[in-house]
Amino acid sequence: MGAQHLPVMLREALDFLNLRKGGTYVDATVGPGGHSEALLSHLGPEGHLICMDRDEETLELARERLQDKRARFVHARFSELARVLGEMDIQGVDGVLMDFGVSMLQLKTPERGFSFTSNETLDMRMDRSEPTSALEAVNKWPEKELARVIYEYGGEWRSRRIASAICRARGKARIETGLELAEIVSSAVGRSGKTHPATRTFQGLRIAVNREMEEIDAGLEAAVDALVPGGRLVTIAYHSLEDGKAKRFMREAARAERVKLLTKKPLVPTREETRENPSARSAKMRAVEAI
Ligand SMILES: C[S@@+](CC[C@H](N)C(=O)[O-])C[C@H]1O[C@@H](n2cnc3c(N)ncnc32)[C@H](O)[C@@H]1O
Repeated sequence: MGAQHLPVMLREALDFLNLRKGGTYVDATVGPGGHSEALLSHLGPEGHLICMDRDEETLELARERLQDKRARFVHARFSELARVLGEMDIQGVDGVLMDFGVSMLQLKTPERGFSFTSNETLDMRMDRSEPTSALEAVNKWPEKELARVIYEYGGEWRSRRIASAICRARGKARIETGLELAEIVSSAVGRSGKTHPATRTFQGLRIAVNREMEEIDAGLEAAVDALVPGGRLVTIAYHSLEDGKAKRFMREAARAERVKLLTKKPLVPTREETRENPSARSAKMRAVEAI
């Protein structure tokens, strides 16, 4: 993706959202604005798009890129959707798109501190106005908590060994950069295979620091609550924790007769798309329609 960020599963998202020209839609994760740009091109002059992101810097980029009177830009978390719509006096929306996780733009900007090859200060906050960064996590969190998030959110079975190495290292000197943390992890678990040995640790910390799992729970609930009957929610997940949450939530909502499932199994990108955009390869799309 990089600066040339390509929206993932764009055609499928448009199909599921089934846009009404004059409808009101929410892009709950506008990011660099790839999906929003396409949504706006399908909306008529009376349509509205609410573009949300918890990352103010990204939101500004999207605002500059899209420059469209039909779009309103809101710096907020998707868990705050009810408040955001309330403040705009909007009673219900025709569709919500949630494209989970971080953008390549965030991952690849060294000063955002997500990268394990960077000499910049560790950070990993999507919203830099929030108090807890990865710098604080690795230097202050108890060993048990580090081991838990690295295991639970990173899927890393060597989490205890890694947490113990982090605590030993920080006892000698404060851990400052992604590169330092990656080296601590590599020396604790060794190198093997194609993926960097710190990949899972970084994922676990990122999810914990941004409270991503709690956000998804609250965001899905808020999205379905916001839909008018016939309105649609489309989610795109990039790992099994995100997809598992979307799947369970949607099944539960269908059982409670709040929604109709539009995808029994998740949709995945076509081979052409993953060839063109390898970072789309793990994507899974799900959709429901409000009853
Ligand atoms: C995968 S990117 C979205 C890319 C976008 N769909 C596009 O095509 O350009 C995910 C974006 O969601 C934002 N985000 C993640 N969690 C969020 C949350 N809880 N509330 C609002 N935005 C969030 C991130 O800051 C990031 O910009």
